[in-house]
Amino acid sequence: MRHPRDFFKPLAVGAPEPVREIPVPPSRMIHFFDPSNEKMRAKLPAIAAKADIVLGNLEDAVPVDRKESARAGLVEVGKTADLGGTPLWTRVNSLESPWVLDDITTLVTEIGDQLDVIMIPKVEGAEDIHYVDRLVAQLEAKAGVTRPILLHAILETAQGMANVEEIAFASPRMQGISLGPADLAASRRMKTTRVGGGHPGYVSISDPTDAEDLEVGRVRAQQDPWHYTVARMVDACVSAGILPFYGPFGDIKDTVACEAQFRAAFILGCVGTWSLHPVQIDIAKKVFSPDPAEVAFAKKIIESIPDGKGVHMIDGKMQDDASWKQAKVLVTLAEQLAQ
Ligand code: GLV
Ligand code: MG
Repeated sequence: MRHPRDFFKPLAVGAPEPVREIPVPPSRMIHFFDPSNEKMRAKLPAIAAKADIVLGNLEDAVPVDRKESARAGLVEVGKTADLGGTPLWTRVNSLESPWVLDDITTLVTEIGDQLDVIMIPKVEGAEDIHYVDRLVAQLEAKAGVTRPILLHAILETAQGMANVEEIAFASPRMQGISLGPADLAASRRMKTTRVGGGHPGYVSISDPTDAEDLEVGRVRAQQDPWHYTVARMVDACVSAGILPFYGPFGDIKDTVACEAQFRAAFILGCVGTWSLHPVQIDIAKKVFSPDPAEVAFAKKIIESIPDGKGVHMIDGKMQDDASWKQAKVLVTLAEQLAQ
């Protein structure tokens, strides 16, 4: 498979350098706001002070008669709001829609220097990323945008899922991929009306846990229906050197299930998630920051094995070259988040 750098073609002499380093964390949550909503725009600086990333959503959930005001509201945010350095992203309308060309043209032209990442929904293959990449490069060159804008794909169709590796590798602008569980469930003909999270009807086989379970044949364990998808997305992202994210959790009141879903994604390798309500910012911050007790143990491994080689017993547990690398993952993330 070709590496993303191989796709790099400078647009013109003086065009912005299209390769930008992907910022290191914090990217624990991408907080969605509706830029057509004046009250939300007014609250945005306060939200940006809490969130790692804020995203002006132009796609689904924004009604057709507010598509233009959402775009205009986002331009206003880019030009006037003080976000205190919190990255500003957008989710544009899908490449099948009549709005996307104006979304990308207007945003890159008007606020290209303020915009960090364009999230592209319903990406089905590398060609979707190539199209946006070239368009953005042309608009950046025309507008004199000095920082290349990065791209983020939502994995939310069965076809996109089948092509996840080529999507991850499609461009040096790729910053990451998120799971879109609602659209993906519909595309796959899954039988659920939930936006993310588990489903009581989807269970893994478990032994009965007590006498009552035995009597009534109750199954307590529930398996995350997104396990395969998230794991595959993580592998594709890590291979391409970009960041994997879980996506939306729609039941805002169910903070317990939300935390469980976020944690499953974190443990599998995701760096962050979406937040659809301020309460989910706090959940994401907690979940996507490594557990201090685990970091302390990971530090102990690293300190006890200075060269990271050989077999060692630490607190009764076997550690070797590979577990030293596992410890490094946690300690590095903790250090990045502490900066
Ligand atoms: C997000 O866009 C989803 O479809 O879940
Ligand atoms: Mg979607």
